[in-house]
Amino acid sequence: MPALPAPGAGFVLWFTGLSGAGKTTIANIVEPELERRGFVVDHLDGDIVRTHLSKGLGFSKEDRDTNIARIGWVSSRLARAGAAVIVSAISPYEELRRHARGLVEQHAPFVEIHVATPLEECARRDPKGLYAAAFAGEIDEFTGVSAPYEEPRDPELRLETTGLTPPESAAIVIERLEELNVLPSRVEAES
Ligand code: ADX
Repeated sequence: MPALPAPGAGFVLWFTGLSGAGKTTIANIVEPELERRGFVVDHLDGDIVRTHLSKGLGFSKEDRDTNIARIGWVSSRLARAGAAVIVSAISPYEELRRHARGLVEQHAPFVEIHVATPLEECARRDPKGLYAAAFAGEIDEFTGVSAPYEEPRDPELRLETTGLTPPESAAIVIERLEELNVLPSRVEAES
């Protein structure tokens, strides 16, 4: 059982999914909406974390586990201090996501969003050209191609993005946060 959130705690909104699924794009739309609602927001994005906190780590299971353990720990500290923390990282392994949840839930709610864009769609979009390279054998251990992605079994939200625009996906995330009472509903907030 998660502990009750500490008074003044924020929360962690954890986006997991394949590369190119839309995690960062959706998170970037959710972020200003949380700010509008009065939260200090911190966004820990995999690509950015890997240029600072996790600089030098690669994509072996061990390095990804280290990356996610670090993100989990930092996000738990920030949420404890009151921030709304958005994480967008592939975070392909169930065990490490569960570990992050355990750290966060000592202090604050943890909301896991599976951005469930199918592999075929991610590979078709291929925003960074990485799938083409991975299918050509030029990148080792590429998630969904030559490394596993373990789907979350019980996320707070599974977001099927096919046919949705990013703002539509972001609106579904906000609605879910209201439903979970992590955010006050707009009506309450305005009264
Ligand atoms: S995680 O697995 O440790 O959570 P993270 O989200 O930080 O991954 O980084 C993923 C990003 O790194 C991808 O969006 C992509 O741009 C880049 N990348 C480079 N090599 C790989 C790879 N082998 N597998 C997945 N992503 C890779």
